Amino acid sequence: MTETGAARDLMHSAEIKEIVRSAYAAVDASSETLARKLYSSEQLAQLPQSAIEGALGVGNHLRHAEIDTGETLLDLGCGAGIDTILAAHHTGPTGRVLALDFLPEMLERTSAAAAEAGLTNVEPLKGDIEALPLPDASVDHIISNGVINLAPRKARVLAECARVLRPGGKLTLADLTVAEEELPPEILTHPATWAG
Ligand SMILES: C[S@@+](CC[C@H](N)C(=O)[O-])C[C@H]1O[C@@H](n2cnc3c(N)ncnc32)[C@H](O)[C@@H]1O
Repeated sequence: MTETGAARDLMHSAEIKEIVRSAYAAVDASSETLARKLYSSEQLAQLPQSAIEGALGVGNHLRHAEIDTGETLLDLGCGAGIDTILAAHHTGPTGRVLALDFLPEMLERTSAAAAEAGLTNVEPLKGDIEALPLPDASVDHIISNGVINLAPRKARVLAECARVLRPGGKLTLADLTVAEEELPPEILTHPATWAG
C-alpha cells in the first residue's frame, strides 16, 4: 500500500470506530427479549437483571465454551457484562475474567453487574480489540459475542488474539459474517452498516 493509501485507510478506520463508539454509547438496552431468546433459564438464573437487559450479543457461544476452573479468560467487547458474568461463575474464584471494552460506560455496567452477582474475579479493562493492552501469552481463553464484526480490521483482532493466548489457548466466538455478494455496495460502504 502507498503512504497515501495507508493514511486514507487509517482515516477510514478511525471514522468507523467513531461511528461504533457513538452507537453503543447511546444504546439504551432495557429489554429482556434478546437475552431470553438466546440464553437458557439456567444461565439467566445466574445473572443480575441489569446484565439480562443489557444483552446485545448475537448468539450463545458459552453453550459450546469449555471453560475450566482457574482459567484466565478475556471477554472482548463485554458490553453490560452478560457473558463475563456467566464465564466468571465457570472459572470460579481461582480464575478471573478480564472484561474488555473501549467504552467506559460499558465497563461501569459490567462492574456493577459483577458486584451485584457477588463476583470478585471480574476485572474491567479499557482497550481496543485491535490493540489488546495485555502481554503475550497471558490468557487461557478468549470469548466474544457480536463484537469482531464491528472492527474495521478483523485480521488485526485475530492476530492480537493469537498473540495474547497461551499455547493451546481457546477462542470461542459468536459473531456475524456476510458474503459481499449478499449486500449491494451502497449498503456495504454505508457507515451506519458497521454499527448496525
Ligand atoms: C454488540 S455489543 C456486544 C456486547 C456483549 N458482548 C454482549 O453480548 O452483550 C458490542 C460491544 O463491543 C464494544 N466494542 C465495539 N468495538 C470495539 C473495539 N474496537 N474495542 C473494544 N470494544 C469494542 C462496544 O462498546 C459494545 O459494548
